[in-house]
Amino acid sequence: MSIIPESSIEEVRSLVDIIDVVGEYVQLKKRSSNFVGLCPFHSEKTPSFNVNPRLGIFKCFGCGEGGDVFSFVSRMESLSFPEAVRVLSDRVGVVLPEEEIPGDGASESESIYHALRYAARFFHDRLAKDPAAQSARDYLQKRGFTKESVKKFGIGYAPDDWDLLLKDATEHHVGEEFLEKAGLVIERKDESGYYDRYRHRLIFPIFSHVGKVVGFGGRILREDDQPKYINSPETKVYSKGKILYGLYHSKNAIRGKEEAILVEGYTDVVSLHQAGVQHVVASSGTALTKDQIGAISRYAKVVILLYDSDSAGLRAALRGIDLILEEGLIPYAVRLPDGEDPDSYVQKNGAAAFEAYLRDHRQNFIQFVLTNAKAAGRMASPEGIATVQRTILQSIARIADPLNREAYLRSAATSLDLPDNDLRPIVDGYIRGEKNSYRKNAAAKSESASVSSMSDPAFDEPALTAQPIPAEKKLLRLMLEDGPSMIEWIMTRMALTDFTFGPSRDLASELVEQYSENRFIRTSFLSPNTPEPIRLLASEVMTNTEEPSDNWGKKLINVPRLDEDAIKSAKSSMKFLKRYRLDQQIERVRLQVMKAQESGVDPRELQVKLNKLYQFGKQIDSGSFLLGPAQ
Ligand code: UTP
Ligand code: MN
Repeated sequence: MSIIPESSIEEVRSLVDIIDVVGEYVQLKKRSSNFVGLCPFHSEKTPSFNVNPRLGIFKCFGCGEGGDVFSFVSRMESLSFPEAVRVLSDRVGVVLPEEEIPGDGASESESIYHALRYAARFFHDRLAKDPAAQSARDYLQKRGFTKESVKKFGIGYAPDDWDLLLKDATEHHVGEEFLEKAGLVIERKDESGYYDRYRHRLIFPIFSHVGKVVGFGGRILREDDQPKYINSPETKVYSKGKILYGLYHSKNAIRGKEEAILVEGYTDVVSLHQAGVQHVVASSGTALTKDQIGAISRYAKVVILLYDSDSAGLRAALRGIDLILEEGLIPYAVRLPDGEDPDSYVQKNGAAAFEAYLRDHRQNFIQFVLTNAKAAGRMASPEGIATVQRTILQSIARIADPLNREAYLRSAATSLDLPDNDLRPIVDGYIRGEKNSYRKNAAAKSESASVSSMSDPAFDEPALTAQPIPAEKKLLRLMLEDGPSMIEWIMTRMALTDFTFGPSRDLASELVEQYSENRFIRTSFLSPNTPEPIRLLASEVMTNTEEPSDNWGKKLINVPRLDEDAIKSAKSSMKFLKRYRLDQQIERVRLQVMKAQESGVDPRELQVKLNKLYQFGKQIDSGSFLLGPAQ
């Protein structure tokens, strides 16, 4: 991937409205100069998530997450920094340099993505232009798929040949190695070369949730070909269990409707979209996974399982329910009339009827399990009934939210016609069973944490806390806001070791480095490339809501001369920080003196040291260190 020029990044930043972007994920309310809402990165009931539009940054005072609009998108969508820039540049219409043919230095994944993108275009072009694709075009027409749908989903045609893609791609400098790693070609048994994986098939490209082609599903066009679909194998950039087909095209609708419909097939997604039902994704022929539910959970809390009404679909739905509950989402299930799948139903009846059907026939998981158990004759014996009851109560125990759990428990009590007071202890029992295993995990984790802290350099400085104190945060903020002149003013009067070991000292040291290399860029501290602890601290000190900075208005220009208030504020913080650091040192030496005396060791040397520290304290109090550079 080509490197995105700094100027383009800044252009995107200046055009993107961070309130708009964050507002798509978080309900924001204006509060003085900030906007606040419930943090999307941790669960909370009172808003501690702040966005400052003037600075273009966000900060959660609950979990500590913070950064700029790029880091926000990159966290929300699990993207790399350049990918986040690309996504936002599309939004504001800034044209970034095209992604180039990956050169020798490109990573393997980039070359694989390139091969996939190339193949997607190849298949799509063939479908439109190749005379041999007539049968594919006829088939699409027969199924009622429009040109718009074909374009939107990038549907294509793989020619009826052994190596057309292979030849065309390699002629265009896509290496065989990467075609193979992308799952597009297969090595011949005698190792004499490769051949195309997809031949005479209708091609559905599979997109990641940000629109990168990661794989393909190829459907037969001749009834007697086998298998019905050929899917991409697992590759470095595609793992079936992590991708939901259609998520890229559906995520906005899912967010808007606050629910996602989960169907089985590629054609169901395309067909529903075409009819106007756009909050739909497919798990593409695999059992639903935790990762896939996690992907949905970023956009909606309700999942409607709309699997075929055959027994395989039913089993898939039942498995899906428990997973969805465990991930903290709410599952509903809908059974379509016998013999129908979402595609056929919506083509016959239209979107309005489809949505009405979903509304009227959705069952919560308790109703769904009971209905199916009855239909399967499993409620015919007392043991059968007990088994079904247990299944339902175990599912309820998976609900983490206590209010939801209680609501479902009562619903179960009604459906099962049992007093809820009898069911509660059973569910509690299941929860305790689970909790114990959590507790074991937690214990194991904290054990390994304490072992690793032994090798932490901070261990040598026992009196230094890792938490930055307010005075140093203020200094860091002054330096970040005012830039080079302030960095120079402060850091010629302070030692890096005056800053608390950890992110605080790291941030100070990075500021000094940027200053001395003459490349101070304020926003670089907020970019996802900056180590997380530094980034979080930087965004925290810049959004500190307790005392709004007088310098905010000037933050975008480097202040050429330092204003007096800033210097005054720096002075008092420096004094405080130095004194604080010294007091810690004094305390440490005093303890050593006491210990020495107790154990009969001559404490004189330590006392000399202590006196020096007291002297130094006087200097600090008089402010003489402020006059000029410290040595
Ligand atoms: P379906 O057989 O229901 O296919 O399989 P479909 O997508 O509805 O296609 P049409 O409507 O019959 O043309 C559902 C999904 O299961 C996966 C595919 O993801 C498919 O979309 N599948 C099915 C496979 O991966 N391989 C197969 O051989 C069959
Ligand atoms: Mn189908």
